Amino acid sequence: MSSRIDLRSDTITRPTEGMREAMMAAAVGDDVYGEDPTAQLLQERVAQLLGKEKGLFFPSGTMCNQVAIAAHIQPGQEALCDRNCHIFNYELGGASWLGGVQLNALDAPNGILSAEQIEEAIRPDDIHEPQTGLILLENTHNRGGGTIYPQSTIAAIADVARHNAIPLHLDGARMINASVASGFSPAEIAAPFDSVYFCLSKGLGCPVGSVLAGSARFIDRAKRLRKAFGGGMRQIGFLAAAGLYALDHHVDRLAEDHRRARILAEALAELEVFSINLACVQTNIVLADIVPPHQNAASVQAELAEQGVFVSLFGRRRIRLVTHLDVDDNGIDKAISIFKKLYSPSPVS
Ligand SMILES: Cc1ncc(COP(=O)(O)O)c(C=O)c1O
Repeated sequence: MSSRIDLRSDTITRPTEGMREAMMAAAVGDDVYGEDPTAQLLQERVAQLLGKEKGLFFPSGTMCNQVAIAAHIQPGQEALCDRNCHIFNYELGGASWLGGVQLNALDAPNGILSAEQIEEAIRPDDIHEPQTGLILLENTHNRGGGTIYPQSTIAAIADVARHNAIPLHLDGARMINASVASGFSPAEIAAPFDSVYFCLSKGLGCPVGSVLAGSARFIDRAKRLRKAFGGGMRQIGFLAAAGLYALDHHVDRLAEDHRRARILAEALAELEVFSINLACVQTNIVLADIVPPHQNAASVQAELAEQGVFVSLFGRRRIRLVTHLDVDDNGIDKAISIFKKLYSPSPVS
């Protein structure tokens, strides 16, 4: 492992030797013609894992979200989401641009909405108002700090959605982290949702890919939209093989990332420069706020980078650290000692 400790994101991992071998050995065909056997295998495996009828391979989580929104909703309708979710903040307004949808972003502590909030936000049948056509949740919640949606909250939200005949979509980019940390199976987490996906390219360590799952009817529609969005791909078996390898070898090890995130969070919480909500450190993400009057997040980021520790900016006074496959215990220990060296109060002489 190099002396560079990159905690910016779990997307920066490079394929392991075993994954590279699996990719090179993949049987492939033209997937637009429906002839890639490895992509089909992965799609079937993920559908089964998530307890849905069908799965569909995508190049990114963003495309999964955007296609799912467009597949569920009529242009001019409104989708409910939380103010900090990825779809609202990091997908370039794609829901309105590509799907013709208005997002109604609700305040939610640590990204977790309540059933009562959703019920209240659902529009009445009024000629002046857009119809509520979709509910979007995110699990784990990235800007919430990797927080896990409580299953009971999801169940209550799903009851409201069903009662109002509104589809429910899960941005489950890191739902496998949620599964490993909570003990609920991926199928249990996915069950209340009409559509759900997870990323292979984050904690699972693949170079590319996400798989969306839902009913056969929904996935058939999503497949047409994926083509329209430019996501019809050819010999993707090479990428699907990485996904199959990750499902065999990289799921249980997510617990190690979670353990390391906790060690990191607890060590940083002892430094007076940082304030950390330890209750939110539930998976592989740590959000650290820089406490005034100390410097802003950008100068902390630059000072750390000079010492070989890389973190993301998550606001003027917030940095994000993410543990992953390419940072081991030694890397975490080194990162902690660099944080201590830079930010422990100097002894009074
Ligand atoms: C919660 C969440 N959803 C969606 C995405 C988008 O995934 P991608 O980068 O594959 O488009 C991300 C990426 O970080 C994410 O954190």
